[in-house]
Amino acid sequence: MTSGHTWRAHLAVATLLFALMSASCHVASSQITDYAFTYGKKGVDWQGVCTDPRSRFQSPVDITSCNATRVSFLGDLQRRARYTSSRRHVSLAHDNHTVDIFFSEPTNYIQFPMLNVQPYNNSVTWPPNTYTLASLGKTKPRVRLVRLELRQCHVHWESEHDLDGRHRDIEVHCVHTAQDPGQRPAVGVVGVFLNRTRKGSICKCDPMLETILSALPMVVKLPPKVKMPVAVRGFSAARFFPRDKTYFHYYPGSLTTPPCSEGLLWYVFRETKPICQRHFQLIADAITALNGRGEQNARDPQSLRGRVIYQWSGH
Ligand SMILES: *[C@@H]1O[C@H](CO)[C@@H](O)[C@H](O)[C@H]1NC(C)=O
Ligand SMILES: *[C@@H]1O[C@H](CO)[C@@H](O)[C@H](O)[C@H]1NC(C)=O
Ligand SMILES: *[C@@H]1O[C@H](CO)[C@@H](O)[C@H](O)[C@H]1NC(C)=O
Ligand SMILES: *[C@@H]1O[C@H](CO)[C@@H](O)[C@H](O)[C@H]1NC(C)=O
Ligand SMILES: [Zn+2]
Repeated sequence: MTSGHTWRAHLAVATLLFALMSASCHVASSQITDYAFTYGKKGVDWQGVCTDPRSRFQSPVDITSCNATRVSFLGDLQRRARYTSSRRHVSLAHDNHTVDIFFSEPTNYIQFPMLNVQPYNNSVTWPPNTYTLASLGKTKPRVRLVRLELRQCHVHWESEHDLDGRHRDIEVHCVHTAQDPGQRPAVGVVGVFLNRTRKGSICKCDPMLETILSALPMVVKLPPKVKMPVAVRGFSAARFFPRDKTYFHYYPGSLTTPPCSEGLLWYVFRETKPICQRHFQLIADAITALNGRGEQNARDPQSLRGRVIYQWSGH
């Protein structure tokens, strides 16, 4: 993630995490600090939690599929999603690093499947008592569904997560948080890999994405956080999901932009979705315009530090 977000969403995430962490005695005050940052060094020069050696569970990571622990009983993310298609418009805004897309319909959430097991407790920044992952052991852990509301989706060029040592061209992050901050964990992010189709591909550009992405050259010229409505009917975040929604990787991590708060759960689809060359270029050009000098907005993969990545597959 993320937070490549607008101020409001960013603040909402920071506030929720702060509320989450105040409940514990592990509040790092740097957790909610925001500051100007660049991608010139891919994140190694970011401050606070981002590079604090006690921050053990940072994102993104390199997902090594042969090392992932396979669990096959947790199902299909889209079946658990209740997204309402746009009736009139979506809104776009940038935050100097990425472009966020906001959905105005009230019903937009996923019942995120989580495993009810012991939390990680060897990190100063990972909130204890969260529903998170440890060893599966002999008995099947209980699956818990936690409703998290969609706040926004945004883009990274190139992908932040690696899959088996390889980047994809684009990664979309859709950020979901709990309306009730008492609910834990408070943030779940769905990640989707996109690769551009080769030149001469017979694949057509998605017409609904065309409408939205065509607005990018205007959006990046606006001041940060200013929302621009784009008229489009029938669009929802599910449009970003790949065909196979049952196959994804799940692990505990952090925001991928300052303040790099930990306590997030990541759900990264395995399948790479195609995006047409023109749409890829609109995204890359927008990110270039925001970050300058052709800088991509992708943080380097972080060490797993003992984390297990779970692979949920319906196959
Ligand atoms: C795979 O898992 C083993 C055992 O946990 C670990 O030693 C190794 O470093 C992992 N490899 C990668 C590429 O993550
Ligand atoms: C965005 O960038 C402009 C120009 O570099 C800067 O003045 C502004 O403070 C930045 N805003 C945010 C929210 O980072
Ligand atoms: C933290 O870990 C220790 C052992 O490593 C365990 O006994 C304890 O219950 C854990 N606490 C929490 C809150 O998970
Ligand atoms: C996606 O594109 C990258 C190069 O940009 C390539 O290394 C990778 O294999 C591609 N993956 C898929 C699944 O198409
Ligand atoms: Zn992101």
